[in-house]
Amino acid sequence: MRRTLIALALTVPATLALAAETQLDDTLLPEGSVSEQDGLAAWDRIHEVLSHPRCSNCHVGEDNIPLWTATASGQARDHGMNIHGGDSRIGAEYLPCSSCHLTTDLPNSIPHAPPHAGLDWQLAPLEFQWTGKTSAEICAQLADPDRNGGRDLEGLVEHITHDVSENGFIAWGFAPGAGREPAPYDVQSHLDDFKAWGAAGMPCAPG
Ligand code: HEC
Ligand code: HEC
Repeated sequence: MRRTLIALALTVPATLALAAETQLDDTLLPEGSVSEQDGLAAWDRIHEVLSHPRCSNCHVGEDNIPLWTATASGQARDHGMNIHGGDSRIGAEYLPCSSCHLTTDLPNSIPHAPPHAGLDWQLAPLEFQWTGKTSAEICAQLADPDRNGGRDLEGLVEHITHDVSENGFIAWGFAPGAGREPAPYDVQSHLDDFKAWGAAGMPCAPG
């Protein structure tokens, strides 16, 4: 009896967490139901998220060096300790990211500890580089299946919901834990902005 109670106490929080994840509304909007102007406004908010250090610190260029930029207004700074992602982007050629960044659903409660998530910590593939690019460049890249991992709008939306269900990097970026500035907005409004931008035909401002 006692054992059953303890088992219940352990499973209830996990069930609640799962319920929170599955509440994401990923229903696509009818194509053309959002104006170009509203689509461009949705893109601006998407870009605010993608260019925030909680996201862009891993979406870096061909030097394969993750960043430690702290806040949206902060100065970009290379990862300390000569960390290098290598062409593998997981640090296989040097020191693997996972030797410090664990794969775990435990909360990130200690400031300045290596952050962790439910997926194996690693740099995003080079073709998903966002640092050093303008909003229009990132927009064109994300709207192009040849440069976004072969994803249409549904695929992009699925990427977000799947990441969240795995307690992955996007979930972490919006709730990074102790001492870190979260990405702006929240996962549901980020998802809604993707749906609106997509229904407007993925418009990108010139320039
Ligand atoms: C720990 C490093 C890391 C962080 C932090 C991170 N990402 Fe990523 N991101 C990745 C990796 C790795 C992939 C490739 C995974 C895949 O394609 O399945 C990826 C892929 C993506 C993609 C799909 C690829 C594309 O460009 O079309 C999107 C969208 C994305 N990330 C959004 C975000 C957002 C939004 C945040 C912040 C809230 C974020 N990422 C934070 C590592 C990261
Ligand atoms: C020797 C341990 C170690 C290794 C290996 C390591 N990191 Fe880190 N990383 C840290 C620590 C510690 C921090 C937190 C620093 C702080 O907050 O002051 C950190 C922070 C980060 C951040 C900043 C997170 C944020 O707040 O935006 C990113 C991005 C990152 N690491 C990516 C990587 C990647 C990618 C790899 C593999 C190529 C890697 N790290 C390998 C220790 C490590």
